[in-house]
Amino acid sequence: MSQSQTQDESNLNTLDPNWRNDALDLGLDYGMQTIAVRAGQHRTDEGEHSEPIFTTSSYVYQSAADAAAHFDGTKTGNVYSRHTNPSVRTFERRLAALENGERAVATASGMGAILTMCLAYLKAGDHLLAANQLFGSSIGLFNNYMAKFGVEVSYVDCFDNDAWAKAVQPNTKVIYCESPSNPLAQICDIGYLSQLCKANDILLVVDNCFATPALQRPLDLGADVVIHSATKYLDGQGRVLGGALVGSDKLMQEAFTVVRSGGISMSPFNAWVFTKGLETLKLRMQAHCQNANQVAAFLVNHPNVSTVHFSGLSDHPAHELATCQHHMKDGYGAIMGFEVKPSGSLDSKAAAWHVIDSTQMVSITNNLGDAKTTITHPATTTHFRLTAEARAEAGVNDGLIRLSVGLEDVEDIIKDLARGLDSL
Ligand SMILES: Cc1ncc(COP(=O)(O)O)c(C=O)c1O
Repeated sequence: MSQSQTQDESNLNTLDPNWRNDALDLGLDYGMQTIAVRAGQHRTDEGEHSEPIFTTSSYVYQSAADAAAHFDGTKTGNVYSRHTNPSVRTFERRLAALENGERAVATASGMGAILTMCLAYLKAGDHLLAANQLFGSSIGLFNNYMAKFGVEVSYVDCFDNDAWAKAVQPNTKVIYCESPSNPLAQICDIGYLSQLCKANDILLVVDNCFATPALQRPLDLGADVVIHSATKYLDGQGRVLGGALVGSDKLMQEAFTVVRSGGISMSPFNAWVFTKGLETLKLRMQAHCQNANQVAAFLVNHPNVSTVHFSGLSDHPAHELATCQHHMKDGYGAIMGFEVKPSGSLDSKAAAWHVIDSTQMVSITNNLGDAKTTITHPATTTHFRLTAEARAEAGVNDGLIRLSVGLEDVEDIIKDLARGLDSL
């Protein structure tokens, strides 16, 4: 029974060709902003202008035979919202178009997308090679759970191309990185990694959550799969959780079966929020980046800041690479790390906490990619669960502060940061 059940499940909701990116109403001749506003929507007979929210868990059939045809795969269409939902599909199609992928698969959160990637593309005995600068929960998932199921995991310095090449093993199946990375906004050479992967039959998976397709399209640079925490800039206002994978039809079909079987699905309401978020993504990212460039310029000149990790600075080691990889002019993202110097009796951690606690407007929170500027002490929050050794390797020291520069007036953001930095 279990085997035939698995077989039946895999027949459910095989792709309706109309859901594919290449069947978008728009065709291929539209600009990115037009795609962001219009792609993926299929109007119902009601003629609604804006995208509706389909809050339904299941779908009805014309007859018993029609139901059977949906289940045996002779007919395509919705059967259950854990599998597919029209609001989720609109978001998937719009995001796929923006990332220039054939298809996207939405998930309940960014971590849900990363777990889906692991379950779809790795098995016991495989090796996952990852950048050592990653969001803390991604490292936790790889070390605590993938390792538990027999996947070998190792890490390399994300900016060291030779180290990547040396770390490839015969059983390496996935190379995984974030670019820019959390929390130091480090940049990986996606083109180089793509060549390395192609030469060794490895999948290249890039978390594009910090750049978003408004700044960078990893698939165009040679990646096989893009990961998103939609929770961040795709929403852009810190309202709901979600995630997505984007790539070829074939790879996405494998991801889709994991999401459907494992129940890692996105809620229709959240999908609607993200769909509407995508409409303003490029405009928001432009404004975020402009503010971030000015905040970085302020921080780099402050006497109580020892280092600013932001590829928009012309002397950053990855400045040129980021300039090539990001297609938005002066768009280096809006997340940066900066290290606060110890001062008097305050060690670096106390000095960093002083700067955080002195803010009056900026939000002390671990989320990022929000219209509101957020400030975080990674060593004691997002990266707290890592071993001290892993934290050190990832460059997460006690004086490090992560800033997600928002859309407030930049003078107010700078004034709020100066309050603590000036009084050290
Ligand atoms: C780079 C990156 N990827 C993935 C995630 C996980 O996303 P979520 O919180 O939506 O599960 C985060 C969360 O902060 C992140 O920063």
